[in-house]
Amino acid sequence: MDRHPPRRHRHPPQPGHRPAARRRLDARHPGRLHPRGPAHPEQREAAALGASLAEELRAADAAIIAVPLYNWGVSQHFKTWVDLVIAAAGPTTELLKDKPVLLVASFGGGFAAGTPREGWDHSTPYVERILRDVWGADLTTVRRELTMAAANPAMESLRDLAAEYHAQALDAAATAGKNLARA
Ligand SMILES: Cc1cc2nc3c(=O)[nH]c(=O)nc-3n(C[C@H](O)[C@H](O)[C@H](O)COP(=O)(O)O)c2cc1C
Repeated sequence: MDRHPPRRHRHPPQPGHRPAARRRLDARHPGRLHPRGPAHPEQREAAALGASLAEELRAADAAIIAVPLYNWGVSQHFKTWVDLVIAAAGPTTELLKDKPVLLVASFGGGFAAGTPREGWDHSTPYVERILRDVWGADLTTVRRELTMAAANPAMESLRDLAAEYHAQALDAAATAGKNLARA
């Protein structure tokens, strides 16, 4: 006797019902949508947006990307953008292969060696990892710290240093911009 009779739905599938497997991400390719395609209109819209963002990177000759530090981590906006692009292009596609890319990383506070927040910038290593190591960019990073000093009374004693950082960042950005224009 068959000890495992076929399982039956207690309720017949309703119109518009899609098997759960169609809605799952493809486990073999983390970050990619299921090969049979996204099931819901919102997923299809997200996939189309991801594809157009990936195409924008693929078509670019160069790129300038500005990323602020938010609560000692990567901004959700940058992370969402990365997630959409990688969902569309896959985790191993070098969309910026050998293209000159300038990352401008800005910070309200200071993170220099020996200061209390040394090591608290948990954004830039991730951003650089994606741009250089995942997407293959020829990357230059310009840092600008203490952007909040001018407006925050508690940082008044840091304003001269902030002005120095500002001048250095402008210099570095101008040099990087010229290299980018020549490339
Ligand atoms: C929500 C939020 C969180 C922030 N968190 C930090 C932080 O943890 N450390 C820091 O140094 N600056 C922090 N800042 C300041 C920004 O990094 C800084 O102002 C940067 O220059 C902002 O660029 P934006 O004005 O273009 O967003 C934060 C700013 C915002 C809006």
